[in-house]
Amino acid sequence: MIRIKLFLLSLLLCFSFSCKKTDVGPSPVPWVKVNISIDLSKSPYNALLTPGGYVYIPGGYKGIVVVSDQSGKIWALDRTCPYHVNSSCGVVSMSSAGNQFTCPCCASTYALDGSIGHGPSTYSLKAYIVSQYVSTLTITS
Ligand code: FES
Repeated sequence: MIRIKLFLLSLLLCFSFSCKKTDVGPSPVPWVKVNISIDLSKSPYNALLTPGGYVYIPGGYKGIVVVSDQSGKIWALDRTCPYHVNSSCGVVSMSSAGNQFTCPCCASTYALDGSIGHGPSTYSLKAYIVSQYVSTLTITS
């Protein structure tokens, strides 16, 4: 009986401290100079004014996805899957449900803020600096 209680207690502790994966180190995605400005009042970028909205833009190592998470915070993430940086298929895309990014290569998933979800990856997506002035969004490395 004590063993069952101890097991349940360890489960409870695990869930209360969330078994969320954390990065094992700095991003393996190579540094690339990024300095991009987009106008949020114009299409297609005005999709970012709605939580869950996203756009793909050129730049970064293998392209950038700009996304508004469910709280409306805007993230700019490199689409390179950090698990296999040099694999040609390691480019993440928004899932059909629109609630996470998926890698077609080894099925790693990432939350809308780029943090590690499920699958083999041990790194979050590389995030770029996002600043906003009125309707101008600037993305830099
Ligand atoms: S390249 Fe993305 S998980 Fe393997």
